[in-house]
Amino acid sequence: MRELQDTFGRKFPYIRLSITDVCNFRCSYCLPQGYKKNPRDIRSFMSADEISRLVKALSELGVKKIRLTGGEPTVRKDFFDILKDVKQNSNIPKVTMTTNGYQLKKIAKQLYEVGLDGINISIDSLNRETFKNLTGHDRLLDILEGIKTLQGLNFKNIKVNAVLLKGINDTEKDFEAFANFIENNKIDFRFIELMETGDNLEFFKKNHVPAKIFKDYLEKNKWVYQTNGRDAGPAINYINPEFKGKFGLIAPYSKDFCKTCNRLRITARGDLRLCLFGNTGTSIRHLLQNDDQKEELVDLVISQLRLKKASHQLELGDTGITPNLSSTGG
Ligand code: 5AD
Ligand code: SF4
Repeated sequence: MRELQDTFGRKFPYIRLSITDVCNFRCSYCLPQGYKKNPRDIRSFMSADEISRLVKALSELGVKKIRLTGGEPTVRKDFFDILKDVKQNSNIPKVTMTTNGYQLKKIAKQLYEVGLDGINISIDSLNRETFKNLTGHDRLLDILEGIKTLQGLNFKNIKVNAVLLKGINDTEKDFEAFANFIENNKIDFRFIELMETGDNLEFFKKNHVPAKIFKDYLEKNKWVYQTNGRDAGPAINYINPEFKGKFGLIAPYSKDFCKTCNRLRITARGDLRLCLFGNTGTSIRHLLQNDDQKEELVDLVISQLRLKKASHQLELGDTGITPNLSSTGG
């Protein structure tokens, strides 16, 4: 079988597939003014049929995991049609999603029934007020309830992400709150170091904190670094026998972060993005128009991969063409 490999020997069994840019939240580091259409890009989002063809081609390229992302993927009316199709009509072993969780309580059962293999939920603060200020929505309690509903159904792979932010969730007390949350809760909680994007420079300058402060906390509190398996991706994980959950850290500014890159991104409008912070996006959409284009599509994706660079240039302030993460699929 053909597989996705770049010129540095990295393999790409993992695709992050954005199905919409639209998000109903207004996270301060991402969409502080809320979602606005980009007037320079009037292309529609890929249809469910286009997505279906894409996923089938990816499955022939040895892709083992697809994460549906956004924006907020569940704002699409046909979200469940897409999820069901990806789950049932492709040979992708793992189908997961990223969500802000705003309607998790309502859809948890349906997600479980479709057979979703994992979910990442963003919760930047466990303090209701802080959460509301940060996202523009007083939804924390609902989201936590949604998580409980999933757990009640014995849904397995639940991850919670928070972006590490100065003055918002970066103190020992904040870390303790997250630790309490995962003490008796089988959840992988991960901090993501804030990344600079095209739109958030001011916010970034004010709120960026190095991931190291959380690492220091973990090491001081007897969390043990867990060596990553092959193809595990860029998160560093920590375990502690006294806790049911795990802690993790995603530190995009760390040296070697890109060495373990195992993912490609596809935007909601059908551009292949080799790197979150790359300068290129190649449209593959013209090859999603009918079923007999599959071979051509597979060839295009393989040939594009030769262009993937060794590393992003974020530390130089080069954010590529990513204005915010809702547009690229975080
Ligand atoms: N830096 C780091 N993480 C970000 N996210 C969105 N924008 C940024 C940024 N600039 C996160 C979201 C979510 C995940 C998909 O990406 O909070 O957890
Ligand atoms: Fe929406 Fe996610 Fe961006 Fe927050 S970070 S505004 S939830 S896309």
